[in-house]
Amino acid sequence: MIPDTLSVDFGPPLSVADATSPGRHAPLPVRLLPETAELDGAGRLRIGGVDVLSVVEEVGTPVFIYDEEHLRRRCREARQAFGPRVAYASKAFLCKAMAALAHEEGCCIDVSTGGELAVARAAGVPGERLVLHGNNKSCAEMEAALEAGVGRIVVDSFDEIERLTSLTGPNHAGPPPKVLVRVTPGVEAHTHEYVMTGQDDSKFGFGLASGAAAAAVERLRHPSAGVRLVGVHAHIGSQIFALEGFERALAVLGPFFNELELEELCIGGGLGVAYVTGETAPSITEWAQVLRRAAAAARVPDHVVLCAEPGRAIVAAAGLTCYTAGTVKDLPGLRTYVSVDGGMSDNPRPVLYGSGYEAFLPREVTAARPRVVTVVGKHCESGDVLVRDACVPADLRVGDVLATPVTGAYGHSMASNYNKVPRPPVVFVKDGQRRVVVRRETYEDMLALDM
Ligand code: LLP
Repeated sequence: MIPDTLSVDFGPPLSVADATSPGRHAPLPVRLLPETAELDGAGRLRIGGVDVLSVVEEVGTPVFIYDEEHLRRRCREARQAFGPRVAYASKAFLCKAMAALAHEEGCCIDVSTGGELAVARAAGVPGERLVLHGNNKSCAEMEAALEAGVGRIVVDSFDEIERLTSLTGPNHAGPPPKVLVRVTPGVEAHTHEYVMTGQDDSKFGFGLASGAAAAAVERLRHPSAGVRLVGVHAHIGSQIFALEGFERALAVLGPFFNELELEELCIGGGLGVAYVTGETAPSITEWAQVLRRAAAAARVPDHVVLCAEPGRAIVAAAGLTCYTAGTVKDLPGLRTYVSVDGGMSDNPRPVLYGSGYEAFLPREVTAARPRVVTVVGKHCESGDVLVRDACVPADLRVGDVLATPVTGAYGHSMASNYNKVPRPPVVFVKDGQRRVVVRRETYEDMLALDM
């Protein structure tokens, strides 16, 4: 019996901070910085043994800077917690260096489009270590995936089954691809509506309650499908702090999964991270422990491979963005606008989801932040806000490098060219070395597409 939709109250939506939140005026909490962050004698920020402002001097602003050691530790933690089928969800942040890093640290890579597949392949990740996702995979994308010999395809719709089986029929050269069936368990994670995916009313996957999931399994198990069904997949949403949602999902999935006697159960991604003062999130290890207990409670046999696809939890806190403050506009009695040289084109999350961020000055990380300003970008609309009520040091001035921490997930990957603003470069720092892993986009790059 599959229960009706479960609605769970998981607390606040994606993080929103304002100047009245307790502790906001204190110096930036160190735990929002990448793990190798330290201060030099003058209070300047160093990450991976590299002076952050020296990176800015070399490559300019805006720039995404990632702590490579932090990225590696999180991948290792995920691999340790879930084993070799754990996948890094590359939609959170992808370039060749990141794909190679996740692969080196033993993670598979979840790619949800032909583009992500192409980047992972260009990084040298073997097809077997890739998992293909997507709610509207084209024939071309599936052909590329089959040609690469992807390790898993997560099947999302009946139309996709038709397209896939047309490719895996008698003319398909390789072995039948291993597939998982994506199920919507009818569990509503309380997060922002745009990133909720487990509810019945979803564009993703096959509903459990409606019987669609069972019908999909039947179709995929028919010999004519030319595929090998190995497991069940569910992803209930993103930026979820309260682990009860995952427990509920497993409680609902358990009976369905157990009857099928399959080998793999993947619970997707979704683990939340702290973005602002006062927020805390479970670690990947804690998440895995809770999932294991919940799977055991749902009588999922021990030999089943319980896997997951963390994206944000791997990369978010490893990255920060440095901007340069270009104008400081004081409107007495109203607010102070600090305009920086990026904005919604490199971080659309505040505009899309109302997400909160902190701001600080890498030149003096431990400075108190008594002043409240609104950090805005350079795009031609009033909604182009990066931090609505940013607490900053009193002496913030034009020309200062202003940084927002925890921008490693869904910032670079969702960046655009709005207003023909070139996308920022990405720099990895480690052991006193910096390497530009994605160079800054140029006007020529943009013009190259313009026939
Ligand atoms: N697996 C699947 C099937 C997914 O759809 C996603 C994310 C993940 C794994 C990884 O989820 P994570 O661990 O990163 O939460 N742009 C939004 C987030 C969208 C998430 C989309 N799917 C944001 O900036 O908050």
